[in-house]
Amino acid sequence: MSKVLVTGGCGYIGSHTIISLIESGYEPISIDNLSNSYEESLERVFQITGKKVKNHRIDLCDAPSLHTVFDQYDDIQGIIHFAALKAVGESVEKPLLYFRNNLNSLLNVMDQANRKGIDHVIFSSSCTVYGQATDLPVTEETEMKEAESPYGRTKQLSEYILKDLSEIWGINALSLRYFNPAGAHPSGLLGEAPRVAALNLVPVITETAAGKRDTCVVFGDDYDTRDGSCIRDYIHVMDLADAHTKALTYLLQNKHSSNYEVFNLGIGQGVTVLESIQAFERVTGQKLKYEIGPRRPGDVVAIYSNYDKAKKHLGWMPRFGIDDIMKSAWQWELNRDF
Ligand code: UD1
Repeated sequence: MSKVLVTGGCGYIGSHTIISLIESGYEPISIDNLSNSYEESLERVFQITGKKVKNHRIDLCDAPSLHTVFDQYDDIQGIIHFAALKAVGESVEKPLLYFRNNLNSLLNVMDQANRKGIDHVIFSSSCTVYGQATDLPVTEETEMKEAESPYGRTKQLSEYILKDLSEIWGINALSLRYFNPAGAHPSGLLGEAPRVAALNLVPVITETAAGKRDTCVVFGDDYDTRDGSCIRDYIHVMDLADAHTKALTYLLQNKHSSNYEVFNLGIGQGVTVLESIQAFERVTGQKLKYEIGPRRPGDVVAIYSNYDKAKKHLGWMPRFGIDDIMKSAWQWELNRDF
């Protein structure tokens, strides 16, 4: 069994990916400082898969501690690096925090990969690297425009750093550009469980419907889109998890054609905020209390993916759509107990 180090393994996408890795015969090990996650998620992984996953509770910016963790293993085949801060608004308020945390952690992880001869690295990037894209859908060839936030800039910079290091050191690295991950594991045992209040659309919708928030504010209905609200490409977290497992296998089977490659991971469908709310109401039978508010600074008007490259090279296809996302997110909202 190939050992895989997963940073941010207790987090939302990390924990769902760990399930997919286990189901494909990999042996994941987590590193997570629990700054925005709970180790309980690995308990849920155990309930779902029957496999115990160890978490090393250290901060990736703490280089000596990271060194010690890497020295506990001699047979790690690959690293999937999820851990990062991801609140766009907070990154504008605290840019240094984002640059320090997201960049130092990547540098430290790469330093260890190089020292230990770990040749395969997968990085959590984001469609945010495209900035205000005008040519839709975006392909991997679409140029990166200016980042809209320091968060977005950390993703762009991380991609460049990874590209240079992988070429210089001969390591194989992939940047996976996620569109909007949402939804939960079909068992209802695991879903998005941040420590800080969620700001993303789908948890805001489910928390409002569950009475945990007063209302859901639609950030602007005067954009130049079919109903005036912003367009995004929502991808089910289990599809995203599956893409990571396929990406790792792709690297380990030497199917890549260069040291550094990027892949879009979306489902190729643009959905407006108002359509998302309608989908939620349709599949759950709940009436959502929402209101139209002002535009949110930094929001991109519309973005959705072309995922042909992932389909062709990784053999990946999304299996779920917005209805499955809303159904599973609602089930998790009702079950959530950590
Ligand atoms: C952004 C980034 C994404 C990043 C994510 C991290 C872009 C294009 N995307 O996603 O890469 O990983 O942040 O958090 O930069 N909305 C409302 N009301 C709400 C919440 C959201 O109307 O209460 C709207 C937003 O205006 C947006 C859509 O819902 O149009 C999705 O917003 P959100 O879930 O916050 O994700 P992004 O901002 O698209």
